[in-house]
Amino acid sequence: MTLKIAVLPGDGTGPEVVAESLKVLEAIASLEAFGYETTSFDFGGDRYLASNHIIDDNDIATLRDDFDTILLGAVGHPDVPPGVLEKGLLLRLRFALDQYINLRPVKLYPGVECPLKDKGPGDIDFDVIRENTEDLYCGAGGFLRKGTPQEVATQEMIATRFGVERCLRYAFDLCRRKKANGKGRGQLTLVHKTNVLTFAADLWFRAFEEIGDRDYADIKRDYNHIDAACMWFVKNPEFYDTVVVPNMFGDIITDLGAMIQGGMGIASGGNINPDPGGTSMYEPIGGSAPKYTGQGVINPLACIGALAMLLQNSGQVAAGDRVENAIRKVTPQLKSMSAGKMGHSTSGVGDLVVAAL
Ligand code: IPM
Ligand code: MG
Repeated sequence: MTLKIAVLPGDGTGPEVVAESLKVLEAIASLEAFGYETTSFDFGGDRYLASNHIIDDNDIATLRDDFDTILLGAVGHPDVPPGVLEKGLLLRLRFALDQYINLRPVKLYPGVECPLKDKGPGDIDFDVIRENTEDLYCGAGGFLRKGTPQEVATQEMIATRFGVERCLRYAFDLCRRKKANGKGRGQLTLVHKTNVLTFAADLWFRAFEEIGDRDYADIKRDYNHIDAACMWFVKNPEFYDTVVVPNMFGDIITDLGAMIQGGMGIASGGNINPDPGGTSMYEPIGGSAPKYTGQGVINPLACIGALAMLLQNSGQVAAGDRVENAIRKVTPQLKSMSAGKMGHSTSGVGDLVVAAL
């Protein structure tokens, strides 16, 4: 079966890192003998500025119906006001394709500099499952008396039992699978703010307890307030195994997670629709880094890691694992994970990964 991949290089350094992922894809497909096809789409800031087109229902139908999965480079353009592409392209895709899981592994690879004193790869190795279609990201809210001194703005935090439950079930299942594969302790931490958000957090907490009691008695349940989780991500990252968190808190805490695993140069994520026939989208967590664009200095490992996740979640587990292991062999060879400080060019790092496959 041929894996059909839609490639959205996007803005800024997106095309440079995607090129390295495609180089690795070509190599791994030949080594693992699987077929694939890629089709590139030019959605992003440049096209928007030239034609006003961001992405429409037809584009979304094409991505959903004609492709198994999507690889995304980066979204964000210095000449486009903030929010236009983020909401119009990235969030639009996540919502329209119902990618209700944002899976963000936090793994410190060997030889990667960690800002936390005395923490090594054995201490930082967990998964964050961020709910990806609800919460403050729904866009619910509005203005009253906009632009006047009496202006009111609201932005609503939405939690539905359906949306929360499907996210929790994915997290419980992943936690269980990791334990079965010797990769986890079977401990799932819910992160929220039950002491203040007594409606939304209460729904999450009750669902967590009920589902956990009924269907996942083998999984140890743990709960952190979001502020405490920020503290413990820094102080005791080794405590975490699998973390489940609503969208907005998940956005914030996964940037913290990216930093303790060595920065945006190495942090990958998947926007996953785990339902049968669902179309998922994998991306480096970092942005389009306009200041480094076109210089060949950006770190492609986050995007190559996104490719590894794409393969692991698209029926090519062995190939994905092999790419991930190659990244582990390459990280000790780089001077730094930061753009311009790797001791290698962007394509040089891609070549190292290919060589390590
Ligand atoms: C992320 C980003 C996005 C988000 C932005 C660009 C809309 O920060 O993927 O974490 O908030 O989800
Ligand atoms: Mg973010």
